[in-house]
Amino acid sequence: MSRLAYVNGRLVPLADATVHIEDRGFQFADGVYEVAAVLNGRMLDWPQHVARLGRSLRELSIAAPMSDAALSIVARRVLAANRIRDGLLYVQATRGAARRDHPFPADAVPTLVMTARPFDFRVRVAQQKTGISVITHPEIRWQRRDIKSIALLPNVLAKQSAREAKAFEAWFVDPDGTVTEGSSTNAWIVRKDGTIVTYPASENILHGVMRGTLLALAREHQFRVEEAPFTTADALDAAEAFLTSTTAPCLPIVSIDGNRIGDGTPGPVTARLAEALWTEVERQTGWRR
Ligand code: PDD
Repeated sequence: MSRLAYVNGRLVPLADATVHIEDRGFQFADGVYEVAAVLNGRMLDWPQHVARLGRSLRELSIAAPMSDAALSIVARRVLAANRIRDGLLYVQATRGAARRDHPFPADAVPTLVMTARPFDFRVRVAQQKTGISVITHPEIRWQRRDIKSIALLPNVLAKQSAREAKAFEAWFVDPDGTVTEGSSTNAWIVRKDGTIVTYPASENILHGVMRGTLLALAREHQFRVEEAPFTTADALDAAEAFLTSTTAPCLPIVSIDGNRIGDGTPGPVTARLAEALWTEVERQTGWRR
């Protein structure tokens, strides 16, 4: 079955899905995006993704391409047209096409694009048993990382460094040693006293939807949780470390820059959080491992 994409009001075969070469997304990365998980044909945490997309658009003064309700209808149409049971929905909105000039154009109509593809979350369930590795990378991004902008070049470069080092993820590290987040995931540690720590939701990181879901679950399960900065040294000294994102929900980290975390195997706190997360996934979508 050929994949179908939504482009500005039409569902078209992916190969024919195009936008104008003067689209400001193409020329200036002047746009925002969302990635939502689909399990058992249902979207996980969809209201949070819609809310974050709205916030990203507002922060950049890009007009909403349609209402939140219409966005949800189109998203479901794209998923149905592509017969997605377990997969990922991609939504991108830009300021639209206009003659190339830096200031906002007066009359551009925002571009809205959606695609969907299958994704097997059981791969992540398997990785939860083995754990994954991360490397560190200098923080080279701009100062509004809370906006889910499509300007991802620093993230692309960091992720490529990780791939070349045969690691799953690269953690961005500030000059003072503070770990902000991963190139496409939020970063967490579990201190030896059992406290779960992740960087505060500020302009310095993306407020991950999975981060929010996991924070709520951790508190619900009576874990001690701190939204506070931690350094690479703290992570190396931690009992456990893990990462979260829509595409990698709660993966244990067993090594950082080749140094073992804890005993070098996935830790018990991460395992319990992952368990709580899959229970939440099942509650929302009916999906079972
Ligand atoms: N990335 N931090 C960054 C820099 C991200 O790009 C992402 C998501 C996250 C986790 O956010 P969430 O839990 O809402 O997925 C954190 C998506 C998945 C991507 O770019 O593919």
